[in-house]
Amino acid sequence: MKKRWLLGAVAGLTLSSVTGWVQAQDNTFKIGLVLPMSGPFASTGKQMELAARLYMAQHGDTVAGRKVVLIVKDDTGAPDVTKRIAQELVINDKVQVLAGFGLTPLAMATAPVATQSKTPLVVMAAATSIITEASPFIVRTSFTVPQVVTTLADWATKNNIKRVVSLVTDYAPGIDSEKYFNQRFINNGGVVIETLRVPLRSPDFAPFLQKVRDAKPDALFTFVPAGVGSALMKQFAERGLDKAGIRLIAEGSVTDDDILNNMGDVAVGVVTAHHYSASHKSALNKKFVEAFGKANNGLRPNFMAVGAYDGMRVIYEAAKTTKGGGGEALLNAMKGQAFESPRGPMYIDNQTRDVVHNMYVRRVERVGGQLWNQEIETVTDVKDIGKTR
Ligand code: PHB
Repeated sequence: MKKRWLLGAVAGLTLSSVTGWVQAQDNTFKIGLVLPMSGPFASTGKQMELAARLYMAQHGDTVAGRKVVLIVKDDTGAPDVTKRIAQELVINDKVQVLAGFGLTPLAMATAPVATQSKTPLVVMAAATSIITEASPFIVRTSFTVPQVVTTLADWATKNNIKRVVSLVTDYAPGIDSEKYFNQRFINNGGVVIETLRVPLRSPDFAPFLQKVRDAKPDALFTFVPAGVGSALMKQFAERGLDKAGIRLIAEGSVTDDDILNNMGDVAVGVVTAHHYSASHKSALNKKFVEAFGKANNGLRPNFMAVGAYDGMRVIYEAAKTTKGGGGEALLNAMKGQAFESPRGPMYIDNQTRDVVHNMYVRRVERVGGQLWNQEIETVTDVKDIGKTR
């Protein structure tokens, strides 16, 4: 009798502590933000974390009566680490959503975790076309490489560029850049003289730029991931390519706002396409750039920051709809969201879960003593061509 009572008490205790635990869970809405915070892509992680925190500072840390808990983890830019962290966040921390993903291989490695656990995964940075097809639980708020480079190829054709060499970082978004730029440029009647690829880790551009110089194209078309553009620009000038009359046109990561201002005069006149420039002229962007700078010692937000800021918007609004619930309902509430971003208007396509937004052709100019990507042309509501085929 005594023993049975004891067992019952233990069971009761366990049950009530479980109930208490569930209630504690119920009062939070957890976002696992996985970012490269150290290693060669640390600037991406920094920009993204600061932007996510800015969004929370501006919009409060409660949604649907629940406290938003942002759990930030450093994956060092290594795919196996990203995947392991995501698994821990889902299983141990019980996050409702996974977010971040600074590079394509990191997002691709984690996609199965999202599918298996039915956890929405918001890609805020990585840009290879295929990513959203790696899991039905992926939603993207960054951009896609084909959106950008097809816009740039059309601009190049219209601006008297007939022969190019392409030079890209040798991994998925670089290969997307090469494929979609070159295809479009050739379809437009242009000639691609040579296609060059540089390694992702510790790239030395010098020998490749020498080849470009020897090939004497009208322009060099290039892609390198955020943070790497400074080294490329420096060597472009050192090798005298600018003096040789070779124009530089690029995917917008090359003149990333985080590093652009320190590139010096060699960057002036470089034409890129992208979805975001810190100099985008809208009241919302002005407010965003000012608030970001004020919170972070004058730091200029780049496109990585905007991807994270808009990703937080998508998560917050979806959480309001589901009243803090996760899983498929949260995913469905992310699809179709349309809103004004600091980049301009954007929406999440219902079918593809990918971002649709304007593409801007920009030219680097010195304004008020600083270098900016000044928008010169806009193509509206661009979908990812990788999926419309
Ligand atoms: C990517 O890995 O998808 C990626 C990273 C940085 C960029 C663009 C694309 O600037």
